[in-house]
Amino acid sequence: MNNRNYSIAIDGPSASGKSTIAKKVSQRLNIEYIDTGAMYRAITYKVLSNNIDPLDVQSVTDLLKTTEIDFIDNSIYLDGTIVDNEIRENVVSNNVSYIAKIKEVRDKLVKLQQFMSRTKSIIMDGRDIGTVVLPNADYKFFVTASVKERANRRYQELLDRGEKLISLDSIIADIIRRDEIDSNREIGPLRQSEDSYVLDTTSKSIEESVNYIITIVTGGN
Ligand code: DC
Repeated sequence: MNNRNYSIAIDGPSASGKSTIAKKVSQRLNIEYIDTGAMYRAITYKVLSNNIDPLDVQSVTDLLKTTEIDFIDNSIYLDGTIVDNEIRENVVSNNVSYIAKIKEVRDKLVKLQQFMSRTKSIIMDGRDIGTVVLPNADYKFFVTASVKERANRRYQELLDRGEKLISLDSIIADIIRRDEIDSNREIGPLRQSEDSYVLDTTSKSIEESVNYIITIVTGGN
């Protein structure tokens, strides 16, 4: 790794641990972290707040025209307001796959993501980063974990947030449903690019996963 700007793409299914890992890698390498899932979530939050049906593509597309998303100091801003907590609510998680399927949404966010990565070193996580957003990324990782492990993590996360009316079984079902939609949509599906390193976090600690990435990026230096 020399002094020029570089990019790290991290893709993988929901609750694989990629956001936690990417955030820590960004701190250790002192580069910017861009959470693209948060951007899809912010649009979903706005759609739901405006009582728009996520399946109503025309209304969602209209709403997009007056929607601004930005990251400042690791917080996500939706039309000038921080929505870090709101976008993590279960109702947003359960609807975001429908919004992320819409071509106009993806076109707008992919452009914005490419713009954000143009002038600095970044680590960006999502589903289509290594394949569509940054096909020329310097390093690509595909982070995965078993469905059971991912459901357990999501369950714990929701309990920690005080959301009590959920069963582990319903979370497993949600994860399977979201994987299905994310992997089979027409545009920018979740797919491992051939040139990515695979990181299975099922029985790895966060620290081990972070170290795995840092060792590859720094070449062990
Ligand atoms: O990583 P996450 O769970 O916060 O992502 C939320 C949703 O957004 C998920 O259903 C997949 C979608 N997404 C996407 O389609 N493309 C991305 N680059 C990032 C997320």
